Amino acid sequence: MIAVLDFGSQYTQLIARKVRQLSVYTEIHPFNLPIERLKALRPQGVILSGGPSSIYDEGAPQLNPEILELGAPVLGICYGLQAMAHMLKGKVAPAATREYGYKEIEVVEPDALLRGLPKRSRVWMSHGDRVERLPRGFTTLASSDTCPFAAVRHRSRPLFGLQFHPEVHHTTHGDNILKNFALRVCRADNTWTMGSFVRRTVEDLRETVGRRRVVCAVSGGVDSTVLAVLLHRAVGRQAVPVFVDNGVLRLNETEQVIRTFQETLGIRVRFKRCAPQFLRQLKGVTNPEEKRRRIGREFIRVFFRELGPDDLLAQGTLYPDVIESVSTKGPSATIKTHHNRVREVLKLIRQHRVIEPLKDLFKDEVRAAGKELGLPREILWRHPFPGPGLAIRILGEVTRKRLDVLRRADAILIEELKASGQYDRIWQALAVLLPVQTVGVMGDERTYENVIALRCVESVDGMTADWVRLPGDALGRIASRIINEVRGVNRVVYDVSSKPPSTIEWE
Ligand code: XMP
Repeated sequence: MIAVLDFGSQYTQLIARKVRQLSVYTEIHPFNLPIERLKALRPQGVILSGGPSSIYDEGAPQLNPEILELGAPVLGICYGLQAMAHMLKGKVAPAATREYGYKEIEVVEPDALLRGLPKRSRVWMSHGDRVERLPRGFTTLASSDTCPFAAVRHRSRPLFGLQFHPEVHHTTHGDNILKNFALRVCRADNTWTMGSFVRRTVEDLRETVGRRRVVCAVSGGVDSTVLAVLLHRAVGRQAVPVFVDNGVLRLNETEQVIRTFQETLGIRVRFKRCAPQFLRQLKGVTNPEEKRRRIGREFIRVFFRELGPDDLLAQGTLYPDVIESVSTKGPSATIKTHHNRVREVLKLIRQHRVIEPLKDLFKDEVRAAGKELGLPREILWRHPFPGPGLAIRILGEVTRKRLDVLRRADAILIEELKASGQYDRIWQALAVLLPVQTVGVMGDERTYENVIALRCVESVDGMTADWVRLPGDALGRIASRIINEVRGVNRVVYDVSSKPPSTIEWE
């Protein structure tokens, strides 16, 4: 196995998942895992993740030097490299300019780690500090114009470091580098598969649930559908899928979801019509985190009514939902509180009443699990839709009127993307209703109306994303239909930001 030690990066699970993709078993542990426990795992390799700290920050996570003495190859990524360099008496300092986004690196010394890479390739950087002077015994494998030590290794010991992130999709040869590390450098065993994940999960669920009832939230998206099917396989009718109309769903969504479950999957769903109570909660609220909290809380209220004292709650939480909302010392900073991590859920988690069998997976892994379970294509490839729904796509207050505007704009966007064959090549497409009005002219009349922003991104896991270069005529058709068909909109704009530094949703 390969041990990934977490120094708090947003991307730690992504590293693990990339290693799993190589069919290599991997476990994530905190950076300060006692050395005896690390030794007991008998890792064939160790990866030190990135992290948000500067090595000089008070309380910054430090590398235990004994890890470098294990004999297993060690790869430090970003902060992991800086921690290793600092420990071995190299020099780490703030870079003159912080580097976020694409950079081109040039391989200066091909080595097992960089085998098969072209001379020049694109990598994804995301760091404030960098290594200024290498520790003794290290040599440079690749550099960029602003980062002399983009990839390094020790001349005689199996110690490697990368200043960039090989685990993110936007590093074009990142998979190749991780493969080189896991299979060539570490010679790790490669026998892990998604089929074994599904089998193990069904067995685990059967054991965890026992004779209890388990209430599970379904939304029609791939995550909760995979969850419901896994539960159904494991415990049949003891699993009770509940679909809640929270008032911030898309056009005709309720009917579609109920039909899919009943007719395509043959699973009975309990339907709760709760729009008015959710909208009451959202009245006057403009803060995105507050919207999430209130929707999360209302969800829990609905579920508490379904939950008997011994029942369990199952959630289709994925890894990015956890990592972006958890903030502990070391691990990553809070970016958005996903609604499946609100206080009430945390309390249930402490009571061991929440099961989240997908929480170590990324979206594409869930799709692979869904495929393994035989789910139809429309479900597998449905774009992700956030739990707080359209509430976080209406900037400012959520009202019925504004929901109606956004719903119709969103429906046109999706319909046009499907009609022009673009839908399947896009990770997620969304319309956002902005809290500003702009001047327009319709007929001979001046108008002063809403702006809709469109966002289409490509991504593999939602952790990093780039905007989709939609053909101009497709964009033009969408904009013109929205302006003509949706009352109250006189302008459409297109979002051309990548993640990071932006996020996919606007709130
Ligand atoms: P961001 O905006 O954080 O989105 O780049 C990454 C992915 O997560 C979805 N998202 C959410 N999903 N509850 C959810 O269930 C949330 O509060 C939430 N916020 C963002 C987003 O749609 C994208 O797929």
